[in-house]
Amino acid sequence: MRVGLLGLGTVNTAVARRLREEAALLEGRSGKRLSLAGAAVFDLGKPRDVDLSAGIGITDDAHALATSDSVDIVVEATPGTDPARHLIAAALDAGKHVVTANKAVMATYGGELSALALAHGVELRHGASVGAAVPILELLDNALAGDRISSIEAICNGTTNFVLEQMQAHGATFQSAIEEAKRLGFAEADPSMDVDGWDAVFKLVILAAHAWGAGVEPGEVHRRGIRDIAVDDLQRADEIGGTVKLLARAVCDGGKVELSVEPAFLKLGEHPLADVGGSENGFLINSDLAGTTLLRGAGAGGDPTASAIVNDVVALARLRAAS
Ligand code: HSE
Repeated sequence: MRVGLLGLGTVNTAVARRLREEAALLEGRSGKRLSLAGAAVFDLGKPRDVDLSAGIGITDDAHALATSDSVDIVVEATPGTDPARHLIAAALDAGKHVVTANKAVMATYGGELSALALAHGVELRHGASVGAAVPILELLDNALAGDRISSIEAICNGTTNFVLEQMQAHGATFQSAIEEAKRLGFAEADPSMDVDGWDAVFKLVILAAHAWGAGVEPGEVHRRGIRDIAVDDLQRADEIGGTVKLLARAVCDGGKVELSVEPAFLKLGEHPLADVGGSENGFLINSDLAGTTLLRGAGAGGDPTASAIVNDVVALARLRAAS
C-alpha cells in the first residue's frame, strides 16, 4: 500500500523514517508492503532531513497528493484546521483511507469527516490525535467496549506538563521552558494552543466522543490555561508535597457530560496523575466493570506520535490484506 504524507514536520518525518527503515518488519506484521508515495509541504524552501527527503518526492501541491491515483493511505500531520480538514475531505472523497494526528480537526469536524469516510467505504483513523503513543482511544473503543464509563481525568498536553515541571523543579522561566518545549518538538506550531488549554480541550472533546458518543463543541468546554501560574504558586505546591498540572476532566452523570480543562493541585502519593512528568500523558478512567484504569506514557513528540500513526497504517494494511 502506498502512503502519501501531508506535512513533513517533526511527526511525519518520524513516520517516513519508520516506514523506510522498518519496511520488512511492517510488511511481516501487516501482510502488505508499505511504501512512501511522496510528501506534501507548505514551504519547499525549508531545510529538511536530507537523508530522508532524498528518496521522497516532495511537492507543495497537497491536494494533488491527497487525491493521487498513486496513493492508498493519506497520513495527515499538519497544524490547525485549515487546510487540513479540506485535504482530509478531498482524500476521503477520492476513496483514500486517512490517518490523522490532527486533534483540532477531529474535535471540530470529526463527526462530519467520519460520516464522509463511511459514505465512501473508507477509514478515517486518528489514534495519534490523543495521547500520542498512549493507546487511550484503543482502550475506550476496544478494551472498555462493554463498560459504562463514568469519568476520565487526563494530563493530555505534554507541553504544559513539561513547562510546569521545568518551572517547579528547575526554576526555569515560563518563556525559556516554552522555547525548550518547541526545540524538543512537543509544542504546537502556535504554542498558545498549548498554553491556553486549547490543545487539551480538543483532546478532551475527542475522548468524550469515544467514551460517550458526546458531540461537544470545543468552545463549550470550561477552559483555563497556565499563563497565570507563577513560580511562587509552584513553590508553594512543592512545599506541601504536590504539583500543579493542567488537568482535563470529563464526567458523565445521568447522561449529561461535563468537560473542563484547568490547572489543578495534585498531591504526590495520593493522586495517580501527580507524578506524570515531562511530556508524558496520563489517563485515569473510571468505569463500572473495570473499575479504575490508569494509562500513561509518551504523549508528545515525533517518535511517540509516529508510533500511533504507524499503528493505524498497519491496521489499515491488515484490513486490506484480509479482504
Ligand atoms: N503540543 C502537543 C502537546 C503535542 O504538547 O501535547 C501532542 O499532541
